[in-house]
Amino acid sequence: MLYKNRIRSQAEYEAARLASIENPEAFWAEVASNLHWQKPWDKVLDWSFDPYEVKWFSGGKLNISENCLDRHLADRGDKTAIIFEPNDPKDLARRITYRELYFEVCKFANVLKRNGVRKGDRVCLYMPMIPALAVATLACARIGAIHSVVFAGFSANSMADRINDAACSVVITADGMSRGPKQIPLKRVVDEALDNCSTVNRVIVYNHLNWMPEMVSGRDVWWHEELQHVDSECPAEPMDAEDMLFILYTSGSTGKPKGVVHTCGGYATYVDYSFRNVFQIEENDIYWCTADIGWITGHSYLLYGPLMSGISSVMFEGIPTYPDPGRFWSVIDKHGVTVFYTAPTAIRSLMAAGIDHVLAFNLHSLRVLGSVGEPINEEAWHWYYLHVGKERCPVVDTWWQTETGGIMISAMAGVTASKPAHAGQPLPGIQPVLLNQEGQEIEGNDQEGYLAVKFPWPSMIRTTYGDHERCYQTYFSAYKNYYFTGDGARRDENGLYRIIGRVDDVINVSGHRFGTAEIENAINQNKHVIESAVVGYPHDIKGQGIYAFVICDKMPDNATQLREDIYETVSSEIGRIAKPDKIQFVTGLPKTRSGKIMRRILRKVAENELGSLGDTSTLLDPLIVDEIVAGKL
Ligand code: WTA
Repeated sequence: MLYKNRIRSQAEYEAARLASIENPEAFWAEVASNLHWQKPWDKVLDWSFDPYEVKWFSGGKLNISENCLDRHLADRGDKTAIIFEPNDPKDLARRITYRELYFEVCKFANVLKRNGVRKGDRVCLYMPMIPALAVATLACARIGAIHSVVFAGFSANSMADRINDAACSVVITADGMSRGPKQIPLKRVVDEALDNCSTVNRVIVYNHLNWMPEMVSGRDVWWHEELQHVDSECPAEPMDAEDMLFILYTSGSTGKPKGVVHTCGGYATYVDYSFRNVFQIEENDIYWCTADIGWITGHSYLLYGPLMSGISSVMFEGIPTYPDPGRFWSVIDKHGVTVFYTAPTAIRSLMAAGIDHVLAFNLHSLRVLGSVGEPINEEAWHWYYLHVGKERCPVVDTWWQTETGGIMISAMAGVTASKPAHAGQPLPGIQPVLLNQEGQEIEGNDQEGYLAVKFPWPSMIRTTYGDHERCYQTYFSAYKNYYFTGDGARRDENGLYRIIGRVDDVINVSGHRFGTAEIENAINQNKHVIESAVVGYPHDIKGQGIYAFVICDKMPDNATQLREDIYETVSSEIGRIAKPDKIQFVTGLPKTRSGKIMRRILRKVAENELGSLGDTSTLLDPLIVDEIVAGKL
């Protein structure tokens, strides 16, 4: 594959990195020219971090769906774009060529138009991991509608909040979905959410499981019926590079998730560049990213990145442990997967299931392994490298965030230095720094600090939807003139970065981000709860677990029952994925005299570091700490 900006050696990497720092505009202009632009840009970059405003490729026009589809029709029309692997291995896998995907997207784009969707409108997608989700997402992009994909594990309440925040006019969903042995009635969840949303006037329902749910007349239509009324021609809307492409909600330190906004030109440019280089993609790769499209990894490296590069990629509906913990490995052998990208939590859970499940497969097609979403511990790294990669495949530990749009710090597979449990060096064009408490840059190697970025890159967050001040406050106010990541990191003696974890009130559970305040708000909705405090603690499989300290109207007689009740509340407020792992009932919380909860103490208790609770004498009620320690779970 001819690609101008493909880095093939450490020396080329060093050269690209230098060039990107010396003349960022020239560097990114060259990278962006690998995409198909309907009209060239006037200016590569305009930026300020204070106040925050960044514009990449101003005046340029492109459409990412054209770059994913139309561009490949001549040479790759009959090539497989998506290999769909269903939840149940007894069901047939499905291959969709680039040409078929192109037609499906164009037709569904016309369905959207027929249902009143126009450029700039927000569309919420709440769907299973099936090709229709890829089609719907690309169809939005094709007509310039802004997609907001809500992970199908979120509850009706979470969905309603996201729909209302973005004032979506249309929801796309399916009758239901299968996840392992379970089936979930998605349409019913949408109906419940829409009781609290006034902006939605149309629900488009994909018939996946033949459940025939109740349809609300005048509001709900069937996907397949709508297709009868449209043709398969739909020109791609010319999008300004800075027009919004999508909104994706993510949690931060505050109670309310925020809508991270990405725009068309910079996002496409950076995702394409980082995808090809990090995984060292080749024309015949069979690539598999196990993330759900409901998260940023699914957006950038399951959908857009692989399709822009014209390779074949696997889309998996199910879960790693169904029907047994050998499923990942069996799918790799079945489809001849060459590049495999998954999360440490999945690796750890499959590790725990026993080595026999892996040894039953030969995995000889694999060439590159990737990890994303949370720090990968050395044990899991070695297991992955040894038993999955058979010591042949480089492991890329990719650090990035919903807000960064694409991979920021990572080795390039087999090309640049890689070290267990270290993300490695920044990609060319990315300028990370470590800051101390005062916000000064820490120079040199063998250092630890707050991870920040000092120069813009094309796929960085543009705003938080509907509230630009919040974007500035969250990312650019803690340290003036830096983008602050919320992570702590260490730079080793050779300049390789190791991500230590969040330094804010964000917990990363199985690679899913939650704000402690967000979970507390949910718990507090339970009628028996007076107050709660949530902290993260190390968890063998999930990376971090959720530990909740809860004050109730009275200490419960039946703690098990009340716990179940609180799980229910959290499931309905946020979703099953945010269920606390431990709930300890307490009569009080350690607070300062000004009423602030001393989370540091709670964290120590949850981490079982009882010897280092620190000075508790300044607390309003120092005795409460003894009670909490005594009742520790
Ligand atoms: C964490 C996921 C260590 C980090 C792409 C970050 C990681 C947060 C890694 C973003 C990694 C992600 N090593 N930690 N390779 N990748 N993280 O927005 O704390 O869901 O801030 O994006 O996950 O999570 P998000």
